[in-house]
Amino acid sequence: MKINRLFNLFAGILIIGLIFSSCEKKTIIPDIPVVDTTVVISFSADIQPIFDDNCVMCHVTGHASGLDLTPGNSYQSIMDNNIVNIDTPNESLIYMKLNNGHYDNASISDYNLILTWITQGALNN
Ligand code: HEC
Repeated sequence: MKINRLFNLFAGILIIGLIFSSCEKKTIIPDIPVVDTTVVISFSADIQPIFDDNCVMCHVTGHASGLDLTPGNSYQSIMDNNIVNIDTPNESLIYMKLNNGHYDNASISDYNLILTWITQGALNN
């Protein structure tokens, strides 16, 4: 009898554990930027290098997506493609795309840098 109860207890714990783990959120990036938002992000010094390292192997001039992330062209192309949303930064296409696992190898801190840059007005600074 006692063993049976113990078994039921363990089975219960297991089921509860399974339910909770299946509810785990898939999003890998928190909506709140982890970078220090008091530091002004520079498009040329902080954001372009992310594109240089992770995006320009595809996003060159004339890329099928229409998005050119090469130095000198990237800012204008970002604006032309309307992929930043200054009013609701985490709904920016560039951020949502990366957040949903785009082809690139950029890190979570890179995503947050991009989000913070948008939050600060997506300046060409
Ligand atoms: C392996 C190639 C590849 C890499 C690397 C890559 N992309 Fe893309 N990207 C694509 C393709 C192909 C599309 C068009 C299809 C789609 O929307 O998924 C695209 C589309 C996009 C779009 C949507 C453009 C629009 O106007 O609809 C955004 C934003 C974007 N990429 C951002 C990035 C950023 C930022 C990086 C680097 C951090 C990056 N991509 C790296 C191939 C790539």
